[in-house]
Amino acid sequence: MRHLIDPTDLSVEEIHEILTLAEAIIADRAKYREACKGKKLATLFYEPSTRTRLSFTAAMLELGGEVIGFSDANSSSVSKGETVADTVRVIRCFADIIAMRHFKEGAPLVASQYAGIPVINAGDGSHAHPTQTLTDLLTIKREKGRLDHLTIGFCGDLKFGRTVHSLIKALSRYEGIRVLLISPEELRLPSYMLKEMRAHSNLEFREVRTMEEAMPELDILYMTRVQKERFLDEEEFDRVKDSFVLDPSKLAAAREDMIVLHPLPRVNEITRAVDNDPRAVYFRQVENGKFVRMALIYKLLEWADANRPYEHTPVFGQEYVVGGHTCSNRRCISATEDVDRIFRVAEDGTLRCAYCETKAK
Ligand code: CP
Repeated sequence: MRHLIDPTDLSVEEIHEILTLAEAIIADRAKYREACKGKKLATLFYEPSTRTRLSFTAAMLELGGEVIGFSDANSSSVSKGETVADTVRVIRCFADIIAMRHFKEGAPLVASQYAGIPVINAGDGSHAHPTQTLTDLLTIKREKGRLDHLTIGFCGDLKFGRTVHSLIKALSRYEGIRVLLISPEELRLPSYMLKEMRAHSNLEFREVRTMEEAMPELDILYMTRVQKERFLDEEEFDRVKDSFVLDPSKLAAAREDMIVLHPLPRVNEITRAVDNDPRAVYFRQVENGKFVRMALIYKLLEWADANRPYEHTPVFGQEYVVGGHTCSNRRCISATEDVDRIFRVAEDGTLRCAYCETKAK
């Protein structure tokens, strides 16, 4: 374990270790009060955040460490045109570990190539959000007692919802997972994910167009906000923004032991009247985020201390090709920064950008 850029950077065993440590921290917080004393976390947030940035901050403070960073790229030299690579080369002089959120997909992967200290992806564009996934997994484990043999409905913006992408990837490695994808046509899961799920995942899945047809089957309903900030066309956003709203009448068709998750923030996709239903666990989910980030920071720093120095990470294996192609995604970091062009050869022979998983041009 060096960096956490994608949820599959962690093996199932490593995820189990992190969740187990998070539960140990919950059980005995005093024991970990000085676990990261003398260490600094840098939070580099190029995009707004409430939960992720503040839970990383609270996590490091509760471990006895310190926190530096920025929450607005305009207050840093990024506004003068400094690249991600140069920024993290500088930050490594001041901190022991980095949590980065960026609107460009793949920016944390670029950071991990230059930082020389562990880098955690705190959300990159519409691509991935692996620490939200750890939060979701800890919540599912604590609420349902297991991470396998579950039926999960993902509802809302499955196209731009990075938390959905990461949680589906992580769950695809557990037994007996059934997924129901509930979205309007315009906000379906990206085709690369549907393709991979069809090709070789453990997941059984189907797409549905209404919440009503999915509700009685579900162990978990994972609601998401329609991501206004990712739309290029406001009219299209207006067309789909109210597609799915969970209210008590819809919840009436759900099982008594179903749970409702949401990575938050919510806008109007869950009405306030649902908040008092015992099945609504999204605010408990937030608190789990702090504990799981404590466990992750602790584990990554432990690894870093045992493996210094490690300049040239990550190492790309034979399934990757470097150069000779261009990513077709304009939201990819490779579209605006001078980075190595790295592509993974997918099972179907297509080249997928290592930064954002979009097809090469
Ligand atoms: N869930 C989540 O990422 O929330 P923030 O955008 O507030 O960090």
